[in-house]
Amino acid sequence: MTGLFLTLEGGDGSGKSTQSALLTEWLVARGETVVHAREPGGTELGLELREIILHRRGYMAPRAEALLYAADRAHNIATVVRPALARGEVVIQDRYLDSSVAYQGAGRVLSMAEVRELSLWATEGLLPHLTVLLDLDPALGRERLDASRTRYDRLEAEAAVFHERVRAAYLELAAAEPERFLVLDAALPVDELQQRIRDRVSALIATLTA
Ligand code: TYD
Repeated sequence: MTGLFLTLEGGDGSGKSTQSALLTEWLVARGETVVHAREPGGTELGLELREIILHRRGYMAPRAEALLYAADRAHNIATVVRPALARGEVVIQDRYLDSSVAYQGAGRVLSMAEVRELSLWATEGLLPHLTVLLDLDPALGRERLDASRTRYDRLEAEAAVFHERVRAAYLELAAAEPERFLVLDAALPVDELQQRIRDRVSALIATLTA
């Protein structure tokens, strides 16, 4: 196989890291070499950018924020993801360009189309084979975060309307590219979600290796 790029998307508290960890475990047991990546902060440079983006005090212009995410993404794709795909490995990544389109494009009310173009420029046009969208009412996501956190980052701290715009944008993106997206109700039990993801990934691997 010539590499498989899978991404997980969804609002804060939707369970992406739980699902990607379980998926990684399963693929490794099937004999795949898996790279578990993340944005923002999946590289050394990315960790520095993540600290600035999420925790810097004071106002940050929306376009500056979008460019910082794009810089993190450009470096992650060039130094982690593309090399792994070239080696024929599976990359499972928590968040990718759809996060920028939803959070910066819709959340910050920049243009969704322009933010997508920015990410495509940053990554030289790399799109995932499959994107799992864990769709969740932001109020529920917030409850889950409240149960596990005392401190919120700059994006998590945004008002409920911001997170509503993010959710709506994600659903719009999924509707526009139904073959790339698998949309799941993130309120379902963890095991059931994982089973649906595995079924879809199995089918995808079967088509790619046919
Ligand atoms: P993440 O690392 O998923 O959060 P966590 O701290 O729960 O692991 O993402 C941090 C925040 O960054 C999250 O609120 C979503 C936001 N984000 C964007 O706004 N745009 C982007 O392009 C990405 C990748 C993340």
